[in-house]
Amino acid sequence: MIAGIIKLLLATSPCSAFYLPNLRHANIAIARSFSSTVSFSYVTHDVCTRLCSQSDDNDDVAAQDVRLFLTQRSIQSFMFLLASTRDLHTVWWLDNFVQPITINNYWEDDVDSKPGAAGTFRENDKRIGSKLLNYHGLSALNTTIFPAWDSFFMSLLEQPDAVLKISTPKDVGQRAYSKFDIEIEPARLCTRILSVREQIAREMSGDLKAIANMGQMIFNSYWQNAKDRKNTKQTGTSGVSAGKNKEESSPYGFDRPGTMYINFDPTDDDEFAPSPLRKGNFDLLYNLITQTAVVQMLQNEEGVVVGEDEIQNRASQLFLSKFYLERRITHFIGSQWYGKGDDFIEELIMSSPIMMSRNEGRLGRKDGIDLEISRMPPLVVEPMRIAEQILLRRDKLALEWMGIMQFAPSEHTDIRKLQLSRLTGVAPAKVIMEDEFQ
Ligand SMILES: *[C@@H]1O[C@H](CO)[C@@H](O)[C@H](O)[C@H]1NC(C)=O
Repeated sequence: MIAGIIKLLLATSPCSAFYLPNLRHANIAIARSFSSTVSFSYVTHDVCTRLCSQSDDNDDVAAQDVRLFLTQRSIQSFMFLLASTRDLHTVWWLDNFVQPITINNYWEDDVDSKPGAAGTFRENDKRIGSKLLNYHGLSALNTTIFPAWDSFFMSLLEQPDAVLKISTPKDVGQRAYSKFDIEIEPARLCTRILSVREQIAREMSGDLKAIANMGQMIFNSYWQNAKDRKNTKQTGTSGVSAGKNKEESSPYGFDRPGTMYINFDPTDDDEFAPSPLRKGNFDLLYNLITQTAVVQMLQNEEGVVVGEDEIQNRASQLFLSKFYLERRITHFIGSQWYGKGDDFIEELIMSSPIMMSRNEGRLGRKDGIDLEISRMPPLVVEPMRIAEQILLRRDKLALEWMGIMQFAPSEHTDIRKLQLSRLTGVAPAKVIMEDEFQ
């Protein structure tokens, strides 16, 4: 791992801003933490044990498996396709089958504000009651029901064919088609969702290639902005109006490569039409990979390496676990707004460095105050350097995930075989379901 980081560092050009000017930065850090009273109420040891060890019940802190995420987005994109052909009944059936977990899914209150919703659905589409269709968030699949990426397809193939008996309620008015049947054939649904999954995997492979370079871009942009801010300040004090730099007056960390990327989607020019929910897929992938990078750094005892000082590394890791836990709900759980992955990094980059005594840094040790250690210079936890580590890890992770995405179609072989034998074999008895909508 460490060797990997060093290799990556060497791979970036030597004059690149990605490698932080160590000493200068540390001086600024100390000066800043003297001028403001920053209190670092460090994480209790309990929290760290929960995060740093691979216990059984760390489901709540772990990030979603990327293959499972791909399955989730395939189902959602397929639902979107169905909805756009007005086949809302199949959407309803799928939603019932998946039993999604959609925390904070507020779309029913405020449809317009949800990405992808505008202009697609009529007002009374709400009656379809699909929770999954408009959910923009991670971990919608219940891992008890669908533990692995292919569990959904396996159990879909075990479902009997179904006939939905649709009847329009009397108060809506009788029409020529007020009673009709919809056939649901799980094996056919399976084929179509697998195709969507392959398309999304292809797109995500390209996305991940782009993400693998975004850590570098973020750092270049951050240092450029820091320089610009300094220049603006100087011209300001010398009485020159900084009017043309107005847009730089509000502090921000960096130009967001994620946002730029989805606005200039390279696949727009492709001969293939992009998959539905294309931008949502990218945004969530970006969020998930950021979260996974952080979680990996917390789960490994030597996950955060900001320097040679082991105590400082440990203190940095504790800082990160606190920072992450505080933002887990707002940035990674349930329905989310766009750009949360960049939000997280930006908030970390922009937070103030923190000074703490070495005894504080030796958390979890019960041997009391060590006088030798008390005489040593205080520790400085630099969020900036932690962010750098996250981005390096994320860049590397992106390359790993690219491999997973490229391999996705060959992983479908087994399911396709099952699905064929289902289509050609004897099907289980049909079930009839009654439903009451148009
Ligand atoms: C996931 O599924 C299991 C089994 O059906 C159920 O008991 C559990 O409540 C579900 N979890 C959530 C969060 O809905």
